[in-house]
Amino acid sequence: MADVQTRIAELRRQLNLHNYRYHVLDSPLISDAEYDKLMAELRRLEAERPELVTPDSPTQRVGGQPSDKFVKVRHPRSILSLGNAFEADGVRAWWERIGKLLPEDAPIAFVVEPKIDGLTVVLHYHDGVLVQGATRGDGEVGEDITPNLRTIRAIPLHIPVQDLTGLGDLSGLQSLPSTLVVRGEAYLPIAAFEKLNEELAAAGEKTFANPRNGAAGSLRQLDPRITARRPLSILCYQIVEFSPHPLPPSPVPSGQERGMPPTQWETLEYLEAMGFPIAHEVNRRFDSLDQAIAYCEAWVEKRDSLPFEADGMVIKIDDLGVQAALGVVGRDPRGMLALKFPAREATTQLNSVTFNIGRTGTINPVALLAPIEIGGVIVERATLHNFDDIARKDIRIGDTVTVVRRGDVIPYVVGPVTDLRTGKEQEIRAPDKCPFCDTPVTRQEGVVALCCPNRDCPGRVDRQVTHFVYAMDMEGLGERIVNQLIDEGLVRDVADLYSITHEQLLELEGFADKKATNLLNTIAASKSRPLVRVLMALGVPGVGSTVAELLTQHFSSLDELAAADVDRLQTIEGIGPVTAQSIVEWFGHKSNCALVAKLEKVGVRMREAKKKAAPAAGGALAGGPFTGKTFVVTGTLPTMSREEAAAFIKSRGGKVTDSVSKKTSYLVVGADPGGTKYNKAQELGVEMIDEAALRKLVGK
Ligand code: IVH
Repeated sequence: MADVQTRIAELRRQLNLHNYRYHVLDSPLISDAEYDKLMAELRRLEAERPELVTPDSPTQRVGGQPSDKFVKVRHPRSILSLGNAFEADGVRAWWERIGKLLPEDAPIAFVVEPKIDGLTVVLHYHDGVLVQGATRGDGEVGEDITPNLRTIRAIPLHIPVQDLTGLGDLSGLQSLPSTLVVRGEAYLPIAAFEKLNEELAAAGEKTFANPRNGAAGSLRQLDPRITARRPLSILCYQIVEFSPHPLPPSPVPSGQERGMPPTQWETLEYLEAMGFPIAHEVNRRFDSLDQAIAYCEAWVEKRDSLPFEADGMVIKIDDLGVQAALGVVGRDPRGMLALKFPAREATTQLNSVTFNIGRTGTINPVALLAPIEIGGVIVERATLHNFDDIARKDIRIGDTVTVVRRGDVIPYVVGPVTDLRTGKEQEIRAPDKCPFCDTPVTRQEGVVALCCPNRDCPGRVDRQVTHFVYAMDMEGLGERIVNQLIDEGLVRDVADLYSITHEQLLELEGFADKKATNLLNTIAASKSRPLVRVLMALGVPGVGSTVAELLTQHFSSLDELAAADVDRLQTIEGIGPVTAQSIVEWFGHKSNCALVAKLEKVGVRMREAKKKAAPAAGGALAGGPFTGKTFVVTGTLPTMSREEAAAFIKSRGGKVTDSVSKKTSYLVVGADPGGTKYNKAQELGVEMIDEAALRKLVGK
């Protein structure tokens, strides 16, 4: 039936287009549900007419059968590597060397691209259809991983991808080559890498040390169904082979293959027009090497804003004829060079292990390291996540360990360098008693962290009080004083802060009359903080500033909130089942209710007229107090997650970006701030504020 055939062709065309809009252009035209509907129809028609299934059908992206080994494939041409420089001077030295090989005063342009830290893949298209995809292997022979590569949605199964909206201009293209072999870098986006590792750890499986290993591990799976579940992507940058269709005899331009783009820049344009993803936002062409170097250096600061891990920038001579003429040294083409970013990883000695405790009692191991510089910051402590992770990775005291500090992430220990073991390393033991109060630790089912169940544990109380003091904006009451108050027995819970007397303070070391008076005034002033602050300050798990704000729009007192059940809480848009459950559980504890009563008794605000709903998070509020202001957030804020901070800013009309530039109005700084953002802000004189100051800005 010709009708079915036509419909199948139409569905494939539409699905390929929508796939491209979603995964390459990041600008979908239809909803996921509509996409699924088209896909379901195509699946149904193909099931009825299996003889019509083709390898470039969008139904063929998933579900290939597992194989027992990879078949080797010879590349049509050597898949070369790349020379490195670590500083601008290295790039200049490279240029001096090769400049001598070039005709004098020939104008030379350069293309700069990101050096994507992924896995090279080689994609073969015959008459526009993806027929094979391989790994690089040794550069001559790779492995056929076609079924795995098909699952990467950003890889076109069929080129050119026709874009109905005319975004991709195909008018200037030569005819489609009979064979096109494209090289690209498959990668796991950083966010997907972090999520994957969390999932692997939760399942008790081995995690990946970095996104590159994650990409390689995901692609070198014998079962493509596993690859399909990993949200890999790709960026393309090279045409390895291009064979035009035979044409009736006509003069063929000499040199370059007919129809093949003559420059790197046009190669990128050609690849993009065909529907391949390229690093559009980063790729640039320059007429001078100095400009190219300056551009590379600017990206050192901005690398964290990229969704993928880049380990440097690549500078390429634009003219591919010149590149070819320059030839290859070893396996590195002379006509291009990588300028590497400073490393984010280092190895150092793990000297000992200490413990952190959270407000809710979770106990986490922290590595104390021989100090080491990573990306411009001296690192002495790094998280060891939890004891399961330590056991899985077999990390021992005395080990040389690999430490990673990526962007604003708190530095963490990736694992031991086992080859450097001396035999003297010692096992890291999980404590059976809380290091702060000696209470036997507990472990909830399904939760990896150890927990101190003692609600009066001084370690826990310390964290609770520090959090409370911060959320209630008690300026001048720093962590040192909090420690002192707890150690002296003046504070056993947050409400005790309000019963401290002038005489008691005078007995403490470092307190004179004035300091004591100031402190008591600060504490007293906090009683009239708005209800939203009190809510945050209580430290109910899951109740940060955003949720607290929502709650004050629906409840006018803590009593009213305490009486709400899970169903009632869930009717509030923005509050999910987990948070609702957590709130109900918190108020279900007698000791928490007693604490609230105690706070009420000392005069802390417990009720307030309901607030009007602020505009939905995400939508910038025109005319809001932050209109026209751009914010960057770095480090861990005391009461807001990154998303909450962004919502807080956006809902007041501000913009949030990932990297500091001249346009940044404020850098909001939390604990363990990222060196790059911090240094840049300092350099540019950008105003730095903490969370408290951010909140104060609203009133201005
Ligand atoms: S060009 C002849 N460009 O980096 C082509 N490579 O460390 C030589 N890479 O093996 C490579 N991004 O896998 C080139 N924009 C880019 C790249 C890139 C990542 C990888 C590539 C290469 C490795 C060398």
